[in-house]
Amino acid sequence: MKVLVLGSGGREHALVWKLRQSPRVTKVYCAPGNGGIAQDATCVPVDLKNLDSIVDVATRLQPDLTVVGPEMPLMLGVVDEFRRRGWPVFGPTQAAAQLESSKSFAKAFMQRFRIPTAGYVLCTTDAEVKDALAHFHPPIVVKADGLAAGKGVVIANSKEEAATVAAEMLSGKMLGEAGRQVVLEEFLVGEEISFLVLSDGERVAPLVAAQDHKRIGDGDTGPNTGGMGAYSTPDIIDEQMSEWLIHHVAQPVIDGMRQEEAPYTGILYCGLMMTAKGPMVLEFNCRFGDPETQPILMRLESDLLEAFEASIEGRVSDGIFRWSNDATACVVMSSGGYPGTFEMGKEISGLNAADALDETKVFHAGTSLRDGKFYTNGGRVLGVTARGGDLREAVDRAYAAVDKIHFDEMYFRKDIAHRGLKPKAN
Ligand code: AMP
Ligand code: GLY
Repeated sequence: MKVLVLGSGGREHALVWKLRQSPRVTKVYCAPGNGGIAQDATCVPVDLKNLDSIVDVATRLQPDLTVVGPEMPLMLGVVDEFRRRGWPVFGPTQAAAQLESSKSFAKAFMQRFRIPTAGYVLCTTDAEVKDALAHFHPPIVVKADGLAAGKGVVIANSKEEAATVAAEMLSGKMLGEAGRQVVLEEFLVGEEISFLVLSDGERVAPLVAAQDHKRIGDGDTGPNTGGMGAYSTPDIIDEQMSEWLIHHVAQPVIDGMRQEEAPYTGILYCGLMMTAKGPMVLEFNCRFGDPETQPILMRLESDLLEAFEASIEGRVSDGIFRWSNDATACVVMSSGGYPGTFEMGKEISGLNAADALDETKVFHAGTSLRDGKFYTNGGRVLGVTARGGDLREAVDRAYAAVDKIHFDEMYFRKDIAHRGLKPKAN
């Protein structure tokens, strides 16, 4: 089988790496891919913001399956377009992807189907914001309704700050159209967990849970990023919690979307806050997480292709995934300055030495390859991922590999998996 993966980040490198292990996959393409992905797949240029460009690539390559990595093409309706043409494609339709593309849609949907989430008010004018703020106590979470590449959420420490941020969003100056409506939300306290499920529109099968590190600085400080590292262990949530989340979150979403005639197929990413009152949904994503996918797929022992086919063909079941009991950790190495401005084109050394270490894989997030040498080509550059018998071993292996790698102005967090490594209170 020929498989085409759309996207160019660490998540897509992990998808390509895992799909290649499937006995039935004979050829993997990635569009556009990156320098590192080109070692594991044939990379093909594409403009993922343009449906015609994606259709052109698929017309040329004739893949037996297309897997969509990032949200943008899903929101443009790539799945709808491929299905119209009878081309097998993995992911949700444009209507189903609204769970990620519109916070107001997601919040109202959760309210309709009684899915636990923070209380909120949707506002479209400064006057509405002012009225709504009367009912909030700081800190107050202000969210742009539309997609804002991680910049659409501000935690305001006073009502004045919340009003100012909301006004900037509503004016369109801060985030353009994405901010023309804002959601004011109650602030939740707890640990964040990424809980992903596979669905065929009716049934769900859980993936192993992971924890991301969204802030740039050690100790979870500084601005939000796309994710600076992630880990997964067998005990990050227990069996009982997994079942609770299926029962109270994942299955109600799938049932609700089907009821509203926008059946949800593909990966549903539930971003959760584990609060004292129980888990609450922070956000949905309509795709695999990045970097969560890297440690999650490193724990997958069964065939990823079969899981994608089960989603497309309506036969998702509990047995579709088989997981190892190992722990895995991914440390993201980024360009200095990210998530603000940064320089690219720095030569990267030590990649082979890092990859040669036991149970380690260096996934490329933003690299280019020229004359046999790798150069930085993005904010997040590498996702150094390792497996171990326990989390300590996985983390030590990942950092041992990080130590082999060098590029000018490189940056990485030194405390990935700190919560998982903390002794558990009984
Ligand atoms: P979101 O894009 O909605 O997941 O928000 C990005 C990040 O903001 C989350 O990963 C949380 O760390 C934080 N966040 C979002 N909503 C809340 C909330 N209601 N309470 C506390 N933190 C939040
Ligand atoms: N790591 C968070 C995300 O993929 O949205």
